[in-house]
Amino acid sequence: MKMERRRSFPAVALPLLAVWALVMVVPCFAADPYAYFDWDVSFINAAPLGVKQQVIGINGQFPGPVVNVTTNWNVVVNVLNDLDEPLLITWNGIQQRKNSWQDGVLGTNCPIPSGWNWTYQFQVKDQIGSFFYFPSIGFQRAAGGYGGFIINNRDVIAVPFDKPHGDITLFVGDWYNKDYKDLRKALDDGKDLGMPDGVLMNGKGPYRYNKTLVPDGIDYETIHVHPGKTYRFRVHNVGISTSLNFRIQNHNMLLVETEGSYTVQQNYTNLDVHVGQSYSFLVTMDQNASSDYYIVASARFVNESRWSRVTGVAILHYSDSKGKASGPLPDPPNDFYDKTFSMNQARSIRWNLSAGAARPNPQGSFRYGSINVSQVYVLKNKPPVVINGKRRATLNGISYSPPETPLRLADEYKLKGVYTLDFPSRPLKGAPKTGRSLINGTYRGFMEIIFQNNDTKVQTYHMDGYAFFVVGMDYGEWTEESRGTYNKGDGVARCSTQVFPGAWTAILVSLDNVGIWNVRAQNLDSWYLGQEVYVRVINPENTNKTELPIPDNALYCGRLQKYQNEQTPHHKQASSASATYRTSELLVLMLLLVGIA
Ligand SMILES: *[C@@H]1O[C@H](CO)[C@@H](O)[C@H](O)[C@H]1NC(C)=O
Ligand SMILES: *[C@@H]1O[C@H](CO)[C@@H](O)[C@H](O)[C@H]1NC(C)=O
Ligand SMILES: *[C@@H]1O[C@H](CO)[C@@H](O)[C@H](O)[C@H]1NC(C)=O
Ligand SMILES: *[C@@H]1O[C@H](CO)[C@@H](O)[C@H](O)[C@H]1NC(C)=O
Ligand SMILES: *[C@@H]1O[C@H](CO)[C@@H](O)[C@H](O)[C@H]1NC(C)=O
Ligand SMILES: *[C@@H]1O[C@H](CO)[C@@H](O)[C@H](O)[C@H]1NC(C)=O
Ligand SMILES: *[C@@H]1O[C@H](CO)[C@@H](O)[C@H](O)[C@H]1NC(C)=O
Ligand SMILES: *[C@@H]1O[C@H](CO)[C@@H](O)[C@H](O)[C@H]1NC(C)=O
Ligand SMILES: *[C@@H]1O[C@H](CO)[C@@H](O)[C@H](O)[C@H]1NC(C)=O
Ligand SMILES: *[C@@H]1O[C@H](CO)[C@@H](O)[C@H](O)[C@H]1NC(C)=O
Ligand SMILES: *[C@@H]1O[C@H](CO)[C@@H](O)[C@H](O)[C@H]1NC(C)=O
Repeated sequence: MKMERRRSFPAVALPLLAVWALVMVVPCFAADPYAYFDWDVSFINAAPLGVKQQVIGINGQFPGPVVNVTTNWNVVVNVLNDLDEPLLITWNGIQQRKNSWQDGVLGTNCPIPSGWNWTYQFQVKDQIGSFFYFPSIGFQRAAGGYGGFIINNRDVIAVPFDKPHGDITLFVGDWYNKDYKDLRKALDDGKDLGMPDGVLMNGKGPYRYNKTLVPDGIDYETIHVHPGKTYRFRVHNVGISTSLNFRIQNHNMLLVETEGSYTVQQNYTNLDVHVGQSYSFLVTMDQNASSDYYIVASARFVNESRWSRVTGVAILHYSDSKGKASGPLPDPPNDFYDKTFSMNQARSIRWNLSAGAARPNPQGSFRYGSINVSQVYVLKNKPPVVINGKRRATLNGISYSPPETPLRLADEYKLKGVYTLDFPSRPLKGAPKTGRSLINGTYRGFMEIIFQNNDTKVQTYHMDGYAFFVVGMDYGEWTEESRGTYNKGDGVARCSTQVFPGAWTAILVSLDNVGIWNVRAQNLDSWYLGQEVYVRVINPENTNKTELPIPDNALYCGRLQKYQNEQTPHHKQASSASATYRTSELLVLMLLLVGIA
């Protein structure tokens, strides 16, 4: 079809066209560098809180290795599943432009069977920032398997601060001494998980700041720094469901970036980091270097005296420090009865409109505030309910139940009946139900989503495939009038936002990325119990320019299992699975047969 059109162009346009044609023919990311990774995902023994348990490591490391790449690089990760159950890795915040095939969630990918390997390949197109990856199914994130994902600016684009002396990735998160399979079973049995046993920092337990609260012999994290120097801390909450307050004793934290956007730079003495969120701070080592300092992540919005055990403590160690960190831990915000402090802090996080990011133009050159909204969805969550005898979590009264065949694969093979496209734009009235209902997103539309939290805990919501603008949040029920309070200028673009209990958060998102994209609660228990939905964004024009083709190595399962061929399990752990692995020959044959029929 391109050929046809091309002939009708005047001759003068030909040189330009030649360039254009070249761009079309060459795979779109050929010129950009490749980074290759080989990951063996397996159980390793650890005792982060003094109790022996199995955690999920990558190449024997917990947390896993940091992927450190630059805008537009291609990332190739060969994942060997050495667990005893299926695995998928998802790339939290990596937008997978035109490429939901690599998103690593059940709506887009068949799980990698135990003993198999599968190679992800994607380009980190037009992105910068601090993200992380984690195992997306079976509650596995509760056992680890996560790691950092850094996308650096290209050299031609200035970073809005001086190059820091060091770059430190810090994972914080609540943790249970129970095996993740037992936690999963508790949820399946309709139980609550109860209070976590602690907070880990980079996979390690707390420093023994209090002999009553912290047992002897716990390995803790130490961050080594030099006096006078400035470091970038990339802090990620990878926990299950606990909002954490992050702070460093006596040190200011200059917020500079969150989930791929440079923020207006502001100092905080502490910042709330909710489950699934990522922040970059610059911290200058400007305190008396004769001692160490505490780095703290403590549970938020809970009774501190009951939850004091649930506190992560690491050590900031100045290079020639003579003394240990001492004194009480730095105070958390004292706002148990004040609902506004944390929300005001969240509202204070703004986009730096003049900073460049992935492209040389300023972040603020996309004026989201002047774009007309084309679709509005109010997504309301409620405390867990019982549906058909099972405890479930819902959005708009629907608890998502993943089909055996991934949604995107079902589309590719034109399978009917796998899902419906009728997700309600307002909460359903009547009894809650389970379903496979998707949001019908209009390609190139501008969608407004209001998350309304009717539960009693903070929830974080995340959208794959996009960064969205956080334009408003407030207590009470959202109404049309609430739009009057929106920030139409410098709301930050990110991929995860908190929604306070009894409150709403509004986001705007430009649906320019074709694919089927997961919207989920980052709180692992809510997600596991069904609090998610997918947004299907299809280009109505019949073109292969707005989405990459299905990868050659795609796995097949569910109703498409027949396309799958054998793969001999590699790993040492016993596996009875008679695995199959598709050869392209077989696919071609099937297609031919289908074509003949
Ligand atoms: C993984 O998959 C690739 C390609 O399918 C294959 O070449 C490789 O040998 C496999 N095994 C391991 C252990 O990575
Ligand atoms: C915003 O970014 C610009 C451009 O890099 C930088 O000069 C400025 O300091 C930043 N402003 C704030 C308030 O962070
Ligand atoms: C990432 O790689 C760049 C070079 O490409 C290097 O300058 C930087 O220190 C690395 N960052 C981390 C955290 O390893
Ligand atoms: C240690 O924690 C316990 C229990 O919260 C508390 O009673 C005690 O005062 C703390 N000790 C110190 C030295 O802070
Ligand atoms: C942040 O605090 C540091 C001291 O820790 C100070 O030097 C710096 O000027 C402050 N920056 C802003 C933007 O307030
Ligand atoms: C740093 O602390 C040590 C020990 O408390 C003290 O002797 C010293 O005077 C302090 N230095 C400064 C510059 O405050
Ligand atoms: C926190 O818990 C303690 C001990 O269980 C209790 O005495 C106290 O009243 C609680 N505080 C609040 C604010 O609920
Ligand atoms: C948005 O809608 C208004 C009223 O319908 C219209 O006047 C305006 O031109 C639209 N703006 C854009 C950017 O489409
Ligand atoms: C989905 O939305 C498109 C417009 O974006 C519309 O053409 C189509 O009919 C819708 N599909 C369903 C099933 O509602
Ligand atoms: C939940 O919704 C009900 C009904 O609208 C309302 O009365 C209640 O206050 C809400 N609770 C929260 C925590 O939002
Ligand atoms: C896209 O479609 C054109 C025309 O049908 C074809 O020539 C080209 O090879 C296709 N490109 C890809 C990447 O599939």
